[in-house]
Amino acid sequence: MTLHIFLLLLLLLLLLLLSPPSRVRAVPAGRHHDYRGALAKSILFFEGQRSGRLPAGGGQRASWRGDSGLSDGAGVGVDLAGGYYDAGDNVKFGFPMAFTATMLAWGVVEFGAQMPSDELRHAAAAVRWATDYLLKTVAQLPDRIFVQVGDPISDHNCWERPEDMDTVRTVYNVSADRPGSEVAGETAAALAAASMVFRSLSDDGYADRLLESARRAFEFADAYKGAYSDDPGLKAGVCPFYCDFDGYQDELLWGAAWLRRATQNDTFLNYIQDNGKTLGAEDNINEFGWDNKHAGLNVLVSKEFLQGQILSLQSYKESADSFMCTLIPESPPSSSPHIEYTPGGLIYKPGGSNMQHVTAISFLLLAYAKYLSETSQTVNCGSMTVGPESLRLQAKKQVDYLLGDNPMNMSYMVGYGDRYPQRIHHRASSLPSIVTHPQFIACKDGSAYYRSSDPNPNPLIGAVVGGPGEDDVYEDDRVDFRKSEPTTYINAPLVGVLAYFVANPNLNS
Ligand SMILES: *[C@@H]1O[C@H](CO)[C@@H](O)[C@H](O)[C@H]1NC(C)=O
Ligand SMILES: *[C@@H]1O[C@H](CO)[C@@H](O)[C@H](O)[C@H]1NC(C)=O
Ligand SMILES: *[C@@H]1O[C@H](CO)[C@@H](O)[C@H](O)[C@H]1NC(C)=O
Repeated sequence: MTLHIFLLLLLLLLLLLLSPPSRVRAVPAGRHHDYRGALAKSILFFEGQRSGRLPAGGGQRASWRGDSGLSDGAGVGVDLAGGYYDAGDNVKFGFPMAFTATMLAWGVVEFGAQMPSDELRHAAAAVRWATDYLLKTVAQLPDRIFVQVGDPISDHNCWERPEDMDTVRTVYNVSADRPGSEVAGETAAALAAASMVFRSLSDDGYADRLLESARRAFEFADAYKGAYSDDPGLKAGVCPFYCDFDGYQDELLWGAAWLRRATQNDTFLNYIQDNGKTLGAEDNINEFGWDNKHAGLNVLVSKEFLQGQILSLQSYKESADSFMCTLIPESPPSSSPHIEYTPGGLIYKPGGSNMQHVTAISFLLLAYAKYLSETSQTVNCGSMTVGPESLRLQAKKQVDYLLGDNPMNMSYMVGYGDRYPQRIHHRASSLPSIVTHPQFIACKDGSAYYRSSDPNPNPLIGAVVGGPGEDDVYEDDRVDFRKSEPTTYINAPLVGVLAYFVANPNLNS
């Protein structure tokens, strides 16, 4: 055997060993997912979640929906119409809604320049649908913030369209004697982040209003410290759905970090420096979602450390690095365990609605990669150095899995690809549309639709469901809300992620 043939055989053997397992059908080499189509759908989803009076003249493309919740707030003499239903029900939970707005806005701030202009316009409209509502909730500051509309027990007891909703629309508020620093801090973050979106679109009037309200929400959050679920009345409304399980300290730092980013005002930098150690030193820093902001905070503040070399912020980069290392399976073991992946390669955390972790972590991977490459830095994982390209590759694997490269051969986004969830846990999507069936469908009359094995009549295009289990299996069962329910905070981080891949579809994998 000549050396040439030997080398050729060796090469073939290597290729065989390195090829991906055949049971996962990957998009063939040289082709990639339709990230642009997926981006458009991921934004369109938010129109299906709208509460309030829907815009006329093409502003509401999810045309199977109608007006709903128009008298929200009327019971306490305020106008609280608008905003988003958080998931497959008809409650407006302020805490996750604010986080949704923050993540949508962060996506536009980092990756809006990579969005096609019509999608940038739609994404800004999605942010604004939340912030117009959030502005109403903070209009009575410094006295109170309205943090929720709808009694979740009464609501969850019915399978009813938002347009028919006749359940109790209790209005909950936080105040000096019943504080809620988590929801106030997150609202500050959302308004500040959104101000950057509208500043970049030259809507200075709206950006100024958002920023001024963000300051007031933050001052309130900091002046009256406490968790809203410590108050018995509020607890009954927000728990067990959106209790503050992880404390409010992270939202205070997060709100300050967004105000700092939006204003460059040193007051907020000093706040982070002065309180960074006392607020949250003992918390789990390797989480990021509607309740725990630590990993996102560390990434966001690292940008400032990387660009400004402010030494007192170095610990934020160390924490962000440590989080990134937990996502790289090949990195050496350290005090923080590696994150769990399913056999098919999806990030997995127990507790239901797993895709929220997938999209939020993918966003952080891309944002951190961006900050690192802008400053020619890398991640320090003990004896191993990880560059921004590796982070982007991890994010791409997650997104490609979500869009169809997985053992079920299905996309987890409704309306994307050939196979996708048909029976999502979502009242409006699974009941007949108000447009085709204008007759009232009462609370319990919806049960037949809930239990039906038929596909949902109104596909909620762009909705990403909770997703498969630890074994990569997905049953497409409406009753199994942990897997089949979409939420606004699954989609919100995905918008920025998809925008990045629209512009950079061919990362080598
Ligand atoms: C705020 O909540 C408290 C406690 O539930 C309630 O007594 C008060 O009426 C509420 N205020 C408004 C304006 O809704
Ligand atoms: C910075 O923010 C603080 C707190 O909101 C405010 O009092 C101060 O006027 C701001 N400084 C500038 C230069 O805008
Ligand atoms: C997915 O596709 C692969 C390759 O085409 C096939 O072998 C596998 O059985 C499919 N899995 C399912 C769950 O359909």
